[in-house]
Amino acid sequence: MIEATAIARANIAFAKYWGKSDGSRNLPAVPSISLTLDALETRTTVRFAEGEAGPDEVTMDGSAAPAAVRQRVSAFLDLLRRRAGRSGRAVVSTANTFPTGAGLASSASGFAAIALAASRAIGLSLDAAELSDLARRGSASAARSIFGGFVELPAASAGTDFLAASPLGATDFWDLAVVVAVADARKEIGSTEGMQRTEATSPYYAAWIETARTEAAAIRAAVLRRSFASLGESAERSALRMHAAAMAASPAVLYWAGATVEAIRAVRRMRDEGIETYFTIDAGPHVKALCRPEDAPEVARRLGLVAGIIRTIVARPGRGAELVEENRGRSSR
Ligand code: DP6
Repeated sequence: MIEATAIARANIAFAKYWGKSDGSRNLPAVPSISLTLDALETRTTVRFAEGEAGPDEVTMDGSAAPAAVRQRVSAFLDLLRRRAGRSGRAVVSTANTFPTGAGLASSASGFAAIALAASRAIGLSLDAAELSDLARRGSASAARSIFGGFVELPAASAGTDFLAASPLGATDFWDLAVVVAVADARKEIGSTEGMQRTEATSPYYAAWIETARTEAAAIRAAVLRRSFASLGESAERSALRMHAAAMAASPAVLYWAGATVEAIRAVRRMRDEGIETYFTIDAGPHVKALCRPEDAPEVARRLGLVAGIIRTIVARPGRGAELVEENRGRSSR
């Protein structure tokens, strides 16, 4: 029985993915561009008990995972079991270096780490593109966490069989920093549900889809030209338009807390004062500020002073998913 352990890191999208062209294959309706971060890591160990029936066992940070998480992980592992022609329940144990389910993209690092660990544990040797396509089935943002640095995941039309992310431009990192301002509030609606509801009920969904492509093209060009201001301005637009479309859904998909608005204002104030920093917000209340590495301590200090911000994390560009251990482990029988 092989036991494999992998590490993957979260990523922050500057061009947001929000909306699916095909829910059953988890295909994004818009292209997205992200930066993999070093500070937010998930470490996952997977072992399959060949021929052993029963539910998969999923442990998160030392406790049994909630039923919804276990079901999502099991459905993902079923894809691998079918592909490898193997059966048997899996024992999965995962740990994050950051608060889970808080809107800090734990599904991105989580499904990237499990795609790598589980594929090795079941005896498959997939290349990076195949891993990215697989991770996408778990959570589309996870397709991007297979790679380090700036990464693009294209949009795809319904029925597409294979869709992987790929690194954008040169592989050497553009040295930037992202300060994560952790708010004292939780993510109340999962991304999958939030985007379904936006698509089904928001009158702004069509406008979001239409403009997201243009914004992603601007962000791609800004990354390739290393134009910091143009990346930041486009990233703010992408985030605000995504949230505007979500807020216009019925019932509203509102991820922001008071601290979110105050943190946005703090970023804009710093910019007025000459500190070049730009915000983005994923499906959750936390604001992430893009800045130059030399400005990161001051940006973190200022965001830390915002009411309702309980912690700041300074992240830099991170590497892609890595296999850290592979053992012939104990048989579970
Ligand atoms: C706002 O990848 O979590 O963070 O594919 O349904 O699992 P599913 O969604 P998920 O959505 C991420 C949305 C986002 C923007 C982004 O990361 O691009």
